[in-house]
Amino acid sequence: MSELRQLVAAARRARRHARASYSNFKVGAAIEAADGTIITGCNIENATYGLTMCAERVAMFKALSEGHHKFRRVVVVADAARPTPPCGACRQILWEYGGDLEVVLANTRRETGRYQLSDLLPLPFDQRSLR
Ligand code: THU
Repeated sequence: MSELRQLVAAARRARRHARASYSNFKVGAAIEAADGTIITGCNIENATYGLTMCAERVAMFKALSEGHHKFRRVVVVADAARPTPPCGACRQILWEYGGDLEVVLANTRRETGRYQLSDLLPLPFDQRSLR
């Protein structure tokens, strides 16, 4: 299996763990670290709704907490015909810690899009903005 196919498969598997009983919209994410390690995440909702954590941020926070600090790409998987791109909050976090990642979108059957994060977040607020 190619590395990208493995990453997509990992995101699909992670999606099965989603705790999405409020929206019923399950999402899985898989980040590839620079050393090839795959770190996954799924969305986790709760009764307040507002404290929901998206799959991408779960994956990135897991990766950072496990000591990874350089990343190549991220795959996001949902069971939807349209592409499911990262929300604004996730774009911010992915940019901050992942830089200009390749963002690959897929559903349960096929790939639905490929983007550079810099195209999804063209004018980021980041460390440079604070100088
Ligand atoms: N969600 C993600 O996990 N990632 C995305 O890219 C889009 C949205 C989650 C948040 C919430 O649990 C559900 O999908 C519906 O918005």
